[in-house]
Amino acid sequence: MTLRVAVIGSGPAGIYTAEALVKQSAGPVEVDVLERLPTPYGLVRYGVAPDHTSIKSIAGYLRRVLELPEVRFLGGVTLGEHLSVEDLLRCYDAVVYATGAMVDRKLGIPGEDLPGSVAATDFVNWYCGHPDVDPSRFTLDSPEVAVIGVGNVAVDVVRVLAKTAEELSSTDVPHDVLERLADSQVKAIHMIGRRGPEHAKFTLKELRELGDLTNADVCVRPEEAVVLGADFPRQIRGNIEVLRSWSDREPVGRPRRLDVRFWLRPVEILGAERVEGLKLERTRLSEEGRVVGTGEFETLPVGMVLRSVGYQSVPLPGVPFSRETMTVPNEAGRVREREYVAGWLKRGPTGVIGTNKSDAAETVRTLLSDLSGPSGAGRPSASVDALLAERGVHPVTYAEWQAIEAAEAELARTLGRGERVKLVGLEAMLRACRP
Ligand SMILES: Cc1cc2nc3c(=O)[nH]c(=O)nc-3n(C[C@H](O)[C@H](O)[C@H](O)COP(=O)(O)OP(=O)(O)OC[C@H]3O[C@@H](n4cnc5c(N)ncnc54)[C@H](O)[C@@H]3O)c2cc1C
Ligand SMILES: NC(=O)c1ccc[n+]([C@@H]2O[C@H](COP(=O)([O-])OP(=O)(O)OC[C@H]3O[C@@H](n4cnc5c(N)ncnc54)[C@H](OP(=O)(O)O)[C@@H]3O)[C@@H](O)[C@H]2O)c1
Repeated sequence: MTLRVAVIGSGPAGIYTAEALVKQSAGPVEVDVLERLPTPYGLVRYGVAPDHTSIKSIAGYLRRVLELPEVRFLGGVTLGEHLSVEDLLRCYDAVVYATGAMVDRKLGIPGEDLPGSVAATDFVNWYCGHPDVDPSRFTLDSPEVAVIGVGNVAVDVVRVLAKTAEELSSTDVPHDVLERLADSQVKAIHMIGRRGPEHAKFTLKELRELGDLTNADVCVRPEEAVVLGADFPRQIRGNIEVLRSWSDREPVGRPRRLDVRFWLRPVEILGAERVEGLKLERTRLSEEGRVVGTGEFETLPVGMVLRSVGYQSVPLPGVPFSRETMTVPNEAGRVREREYVAGWLKRGPTGVIGTNKSDAAETVRTLLSDLSGPSGAGRPSASVDALLAERGVHPVTYAEWQAIEAAEAELARTLGRGERVKLVGLEAMLRACRP
């Protein structure tokens, strides 16, 4: 009997799950990948920075999975809106939730909601052309910007702010966004870590790229680059060496300046109507290793604060969710009978694209071992196609997604820009695939 599985979410975790199901199953298997957007690949399309073209090429691998005869892509279908968990369990033997982590973590400081205080999730969505964010949402009219957090997302955001529009013109950045980047008034970018260089979460390769920026001088204060101890893993030693080498550099008058700061925590975003400054407190580690304030303050005259302090999953209707870990509780991927989880929703918003492959493989091993038992599969009694048709939902097919891709390639040709320029907005995408 053919095993029918629904995977919810077409990011790396969802697609690696589909691949593992097809490759690991001893018997025939059919996988439907259901995705709320008309486009697949999750954060590979709407997260990975536009200038990281070699990482984006992972989409070529994911595409081959969607093209397997056992796998179907159903775009524009949202769990919780078009289908419920009960619907899915009637249509499939098992369901794997892989909806990632779509929202920002909060700082919890006064002024966080002022206009000009922006979650990195929104800013990334903006420059990646996510249909949830209007391309006219951001105007970079402030000469000074603070980016809070020293992880790889903060590094991406800083790079996009520091580069010229010309440098990004051959990428897939939406054209309206590129025009706004061309009008950017940003002169100074402050990237702020609440602990020291040895605790920063960015990786060495990504950090080094900042040092290669041709449009910005990168500065580190010597006193903030001091690190006690030497017994660090190789990656961290590398970060420390790079940051120390920057602390010896003199600015050479490039149009923009990036200050990488450490041992400062945000305590208040200042401003009456909109952001006018960021108040920071110098920090140190307590004996227990916690970040504590020293009572010494500093204010940066920034007009925009980008909060890049991590992503967070959101609960799916009808699916268990832990408010403590902000993930779906599971045992090796098993949530409940016939329900499974993979990717960032399973283990939290950390790890690179490849981490999701082994993670998905674990979930699939659990699923196959459960469903090969005597109780076996759920023996689906309903058809998802019929259910969606009844509800007036017409999923975007893989062929229609290819038409969107073709329209993006055509747009790039027309504009004389690179291989692809993103179409923005659901309407534009649907017009491209359903003329
Ligand atoms: C800004 C950013 C940049 C990154 N850059 C890199 C990088 O350069 N290199 C690297 O290795 N890693 C990078 N990562 C990490 C990498 O993107 C993640 O490890 C990976 O995308 C997580 O995969 P996922 O499938 O769990 O989630 P996602 O990629 O977020 O996929 C989840 C999918 O589920 C869909 N979905 C959500 N809710 C529903 C619903 N209710 N119904 C149906 N579908 C739904 C979403 O639309 C999305 O397509 C980056 C992460 C971020 C945030
Ligand atoms: N090129 C790439 O490979 C790439 C690109 C982008 C993202 N990714 C991956 O995607 C994942 C998510 O990245 P991310 O940057 O969003 O998260 P992250 O790596 O967890 O970094 C979050 C940063 O925010 C800081 N932070 C958290 N709460 C804070 C607070 N209240 N005040 C001040 N600072 C705070 C953290 O500092 P503390 O350490 O002190 O908590 C840390 O510096 C990571 O695994 C990352 O490697 C990879």
